[in-house]
Amino acid sequence: MRRGGHKPQAKHPSGGGGVVKGMFGRLFIAAIVLLICTLSLLSTRETTQTAPSVIDVDRLWESTDSDGWRPSSAPRSDWPPPPKESNGYLRVRCNGGLNQQRTAICNAVLAARIMNATLVLPELDANSFWHDDSGFHGIYDVEHFITTLRYDVRIVESIPESKKNGKTKKIKAFQIRPPRDAPVSWYMTEALKKLKEHGAIYLTPFSHRLEEEIHNNPEYQRLRCRVNYHALKFKPHIMELSSSIVEKLREQGHYMAIHLRFEMDMLAFAGCFDIFKPEEQKILWKYRKENFAEKELIPSERRLIGKCPLTPEEVGLILRAMGFDNSTRIYLAAGELFGGERFMKPFRSMFPHLESHSTVDTSGELAKNTMGLLGSAVDYMVCLLSDIFMPTYDGPSNFANNLMGHRLYYGFRTIIHPDRKALAPLFIKRADGNTADFDAAVRRVMLKSDFGGPRKRIKPESFYTNSWPECFCQKTASNPADMCPSDDVFESLESQFDGQRSSLNLTSATDK
Ligand SMILES: *[C@@H]1O[C@H](CO)[C@@H](O)[C@H](O)[C@H]1NC(C)=O
Ligand SMILES: *[C@@H]1O[C@H](CO)[C@@H](O)[C@H](O)[C@H]1NC(C)=O
Ligand SMILES: *[C@@H]1O[C@H](CO)[C@@H](O)[C@H](O)[C@H]1NC(C)=O
Repeated sequence: MRRGGHKPQAKHPSGGGGVVKGMFGRLFIAAIVLLICTLSLLSTRETTQTAPSVIDVDRLWESTDSDGWRPSSAPRSDWPPPPKESNGYLRVRCNGGLNQQRTAICNAVLAARIMNATLVLPELDANSFWHDDSGFHGIYDVEHFITTLRYDVRIVESIPESKKNGKTKKIKAFQIRPPRDAPVSWYMTEALKKLKEHGAIYLTPFSHRLEEEIHNNPEYQRLRCRVNYHALKFKPHIMELSSSIVEKLREQGHYMAIHLRFEMDMLAFAGCFDIFKPEEQKILWKYRKENFAEKELIPSERRLIGKCPLTPEEVGLILRAMGFDNSTRIYLAAGELFGGERFMKPFRSMFPHLESHSTVDTSGELAKNTMGLLGSAVDYMVCLLSDIFMPTYDGPSNFANNLMGHRLYYGFRTIIHPDRKALAPLFIKRADGNTADFDAAVRRVMLKSDFGGPRKRIKPESFYTNSWPECFCQKTASNPADMCPSDDVFESLESQFDGQRSSLNLTSATDK
């Protein structure tokens, strides 16, 4: 593989770190970074001198300019190991699909750290949409998870039974439904009180139950990144399957991965019915009624205001306008496309080299589990490792959002993130027969996006989509908060941890 293995930290050259020197604030750096990125993008383009709106496609196959920023989620200030005395056990039930669960796991680790609780291996909901009961053990490397987080929280696989007067007793976890996006203070007060009172609490459901923006504690945010980008590793068979697919795709050079979210649930959710036949519309309305809250919407307006996932044809039109030619190898990460081949055909005629995990996986393992967590996990890895990633819908798509965040952390790997709202009128004009200037207009819109470099989070962007600047650092930074931690940070964590372990004589799972 061109860019080597899966470990993000080791493979980052420090880059040109010395550009900015000591006197500016963090925001100013952000502005400079953006400016430099923009200038360098523009300059590479303008040297070609053909037109002001030419996109350098060759440049996009490479990672985006990092300007000396590199991913780093190690603590930068005092970070003691989890205390000897735990306040009790924390159980959580993570609902939703693979990526909703993934962010919930990160939140659970942070919640345990906040409360000084011992985390019980998070439970992954089996009854959700995906009908999958693999659980944490079936998807993630449990031992790696526990060991990687040993300086942060104590993790057990289940609440141990305690023996009292010869009788075994099991602590019953007190069940709580946490408020949505509960603030850190909720965990410090209400949840902590119940935890101490009962010895264990069970937070259910647990997706989006801890606020994402934590302004006064970047160490908490870095812990989230340690969980998301270091501790959560898919099991070996998933990694092997993914890399065999990636290798096959790379046999003929680079590839692009597209999350084609043109699926029934998303179309029904977004209320995008107008392009479908009456019988298809009926199916979408029915699905919407059964699964989502009632909401007034005018289908004919949804597309116009950029609320609809891009159609496969629109994806093709964007890429072609940008200058990608028909030899481009594209991996499609998606479930079942709604409307079928009728919608794929125009896309396929522009880009015939379309693959998906079912066309590339020869082991047949995925055929049995395309909709489940395994299929999602493999798609996740193939998209993460791709040279270019293109989401076609953000909104509540946890898959695309998480991947964008992970690719940033993985070394600013190119993301083509179409501004659907700006593109919608162009598509509508084109559909009305107005094709002149279409390509140039699309390019003008696309040139405004940044293709995945370091940039400030803009509300309501999720921390999981963009963890800059908390989880990034610079070797030479004008703001001390952005300075990369010293290389021996893990040694010092280890020695603190060892010091405590020997005084405790721990023989728990953390010894592994
Ligand atoms: C957690 O433990 C640390 C010591 O490691 C202590 O400073 C902190 O107050 C404790 N927090 C809670 C909520 O018990
Ligand atoms: C790709 O496009 C070129 C023209 O630009 C055409 O000659 C060729 O046949 C196309 N290849 C495929 C596989 O469609
Ligand atoms: C740890 O346990 C071992 C045996 O289990 C014992 O020999 C040793 O003295 C203990 N150390 C401490 C610091 O308690």
